[in-house]
Amino acid sequence: MAQLVDAFNRKITYIRISVTDRCNLRCVYCVPSCGTISTLPSNELLQFDEMLRIVKVAAKMGLNKVRITGGEPLVRRGVVEFIAAVNKIDGIKDIAMTTNGVLLKNYAQALKKAGLRRINISLDTFDPKKFQEITKGDCFDRVWEGILEAERVGFDPIKLNVVPSKGSNDNEIVDFAKLTLTKPFQVRFIEFMPVDDWESWKKSFISKAEMMEKIETALGKLEPVINEKDKSAPAKNYRLHGAKGLVGFISAISEHFCDTCNRIRLGADGRIKHCLFSESYIDFREPLRNGCDDAEVERLLCSVMETKPEAHNIDINAESRKYLHSMTQIGG
Ligand code: GTP
Ligand code: 5AD
Ligand code: SF4
Repeated sequence: MAQLVDAFNRKITYIRISVTDRCNLRCVYCVPSCGTISTLPSNELLQFDEMLRIVKVAAKMGLNKVRITGGEPLVRRGVVEFIAAVNKIDGIKDIAMTTNGVLLKNYAQALKKAGLRRINISLDTFDPKKFQEITKGDCFDRVWEGILEAERVGFDPIKLNVVPSKGSNDNEIVDFAKLTLTKPFQVRFIEFMPVDDWESWKKSFISKAEMMEKIETALGKLEPVINEKDKSAPAKNYRLHGAKGLVGFISAISEHFCDTCNRIRLGADGRIKHCLFSESYIDFREPLRNGCDDAEVERLLCSVMETKPEAHNIDINAESRKYLHSMTQIGG
């Protein structure tokens, strides 16, 4: 069987599956500034058995890691059973989820039982009022309880995703880093990626270098920690002296990691996107619904490999950019 290797000789072992384009929050850095997101009618959503077909074929071609994203993945009914089914696929060694945590308290135990191995939770502030400003949801306490429940049921590592933005939550960068002194969490600071408003993105952007300086000035040296297990992981990790957890940076803009990219993204609409920032995709939904066989799924996956771009072309110094999208439909 063909292997998932792209035109730049990168082995693709990881698929991010957006199981829904719906979300129970409206984070400012994720949804378009108009605040509305069009959601797909249910007949246009890829069904779980259709997703499983793609993963089964891809697993024979070298795929070994699946991350469930959204929108917010926990709002899609049946997601726990879907995870249990993915867990049974030969070759899949790692199943993870990225969630906003709003529903996590109720689901953590069931997710663990279904075979989910790892969980990443978005959290941008410790201040409930600011949480509401950023996410439009009044549920900081629920999310925090969800994080503690995930820890209680034994998820390890627990990664917290923070998107710092100037004038909003940048005054909490040090507090988030401090959390790693007492909790075994990986707090990851993600460089803000442009959504739809180029000018305000440029004003809010904070680079990894700026974040590191703030943390080291307040808390001392960040010692690099090499991730031997996953050389393609986007986060560069560090540890503060004596800390239980890690501080990570995902510098998608200032030091992009496209040369080690190992992933593709399956959207809730059944299209595989070549890159987070690319406009191009290959549709799997219609062929699947027209009864295509596994050999055709394999052929379609090969064509994704042939057309995956070398790198994204987001440049903070550019004047503007025409094509921008909301993250919520892609799952980051
Ligand atoms: P693990 O390393 O498996 O824990 O997951 P992850 O960090 O890849 O996943 P997560 O969903 O937590 O993503 C964290 C941030 O990294 C999000 O803001 C994503 O948009 C971003 N990210 C993940 N993959 C890519 C990528 O291929 N390109 C870019 N530019 N950003 C990415
Ligand atoms: N820039 C950087 N990260 C983002 N995320 C959502 N939108 C953006 C953006 N514009 C992150 C969320 C979530 C992950 C899937 O993507 O914080 O944790
Ligand atoms: Fe916020 Fe995630 Fe929902 Fe986007 S998908 S609005 S980042 S919770």
